[in-house]
Amino acid sequence: MTAFATWERRVQRGAHPFAYPLIRAVGTIRPVFRLPGLGVLVSEASLVREVLMDGGYTKAGAKASGALWTPVVGPRALLNMHGEEHLELRRRLNALFTPRAVEDIVAPAAARLRERLATGLENGAPVEFVGLVKELSGGVISRLLGIPDDAPGRLPDSEFFNRASSITSVVRLGRPRLSARQVAKAKAAVELLAGPVRQAYRDDDPDTFPGRLRVLGLSEDEAVGIVSAFVIAGTETLVSYVPRLAGLLYDDGRLPALAAERTGLPAMVNEGLRFTAPSPMMLREATNDGWLGGVRIKRGERIMLSTVHAVKSLGGFDPGMPIPAAARQLWFGAGAHFCIGMPLAMAEINSAMTVLLDEYNLQPWTIRSRTISRNVLIPGYKSLELVRAQ
Ligand code: HEM
Repeated sequence: MTAFATWERRVQRGAHPFAYPLIRAVGTIRPVFRLPGLGVLVSEASLVREVLMDGGYTKAGAKASGALWTPVVGPRALLNMHGEEHLELRRRLNALFTPRAVEDIVAPAAARLRERLATGLENGAPVEFVGLVKELSGGVISRLLGIPDDAPGRLPDSEFFNRASSITSVVRLGRPRLSARQVAKAKAAVELLAGPVRQAYRDDDPDTFPGRLRVLGLSEDEAVGIVSAFVIAGTETLVSYVPRLAGLLYDDGRLPALAAERTGLPAMVNEGLRFTAPSPMMLREATNDGWLGGVRIKRGERIMLSTVHAVKSLGGFDPGMPIPAAARQLWFGAGAHFCIGMPLAMAEINSAMTVLLDEYNLQPWTIRSRTISRNVLIPGYKSLELVRAQ
């Protein structure tokens, strides 16, 4: 097995030591399989897509985990909505991520990442890259909250990440409901983020993100719900993916050529998303009796969509490999709940990779050490230390 494949497997197994081998093994044998007490595991891309495109499967039900978020972020946070109401809110958000809006949100945090990486590497000491990506993500969160970079007493970027992470860290695989204590903890973290959103919304400045939500016709509570959804869905996934992509390209020996000539970068980013599947599973609840891949589905059943098997089973990391239509971009979902933050995610990924490759061009760096996160919901590196090559 190649170095990058070995590290990827360690990352996946570190997060889910039993579930990962189990769902990969089951997925290889049966495209649809009922796991007693857990739900129906769907592992083939075309069937995963079929469920995502079918309004008969809901993300809002208790079994689908959407409802898990309602006591924390309120009822109108996209990821806990279904049907016409959800579509209508998505329609209003269509114009949210124009290229200019994305640039405004990501560029300041990306500039800080560039500065921090360059200074760290120049000093000759190891630079811990996962921490830098957390700061990038924290900087983006501060923009989503509508906090100006020069606001007096503004928290450091890492603190915005920590607050986001304290919301998402309450969720674990196999724990479909939150206890009252967990709800209270996550709600307290959301309230800390909600304060600035409400303030920016009331200031009515369309140059801030909450101000833009107001222009798009959202109420103040809806703006808080949407920003919370972005923080919940867009923090861990990004912090998982960027260091894994950096590790993968390093392990696969692709950095020298890519640093010199960047035209291959979009294909590598895309293939890296397929190969790592940063959002490994999507959950739904069946609202009707029916059939899926020859298996009888009962109303109220939990449907576990194994994105990780559906896309990883297509093969090893190969940016030239054609992806079957059913699997294309499945790592961002499909249908009504398709990742609304994709333009923002791509901008964050591309800017972080550009910074890494620019630094590599100046003087190559190597990975000095790395550790993996254990027993977390989203697999990833805990640390990835970069150092200038001698
Ligand atoms: C590599 C990074 C990312 C990956 C792999 C990813 C993946 C996904 C996937 C698979 C879904 C669909 C879930 C489902 O149908 O159950 C989703 C939804 C969503 N994503 Fe992302 N995401 C990423 C980054 C982001 C970012 C940066 C944001 C925003 C800041 C974001 C915001 C959202 C939201 C709000 C939803 C829910 C949309 C809805 O329910 O209508 N995501 N994402």
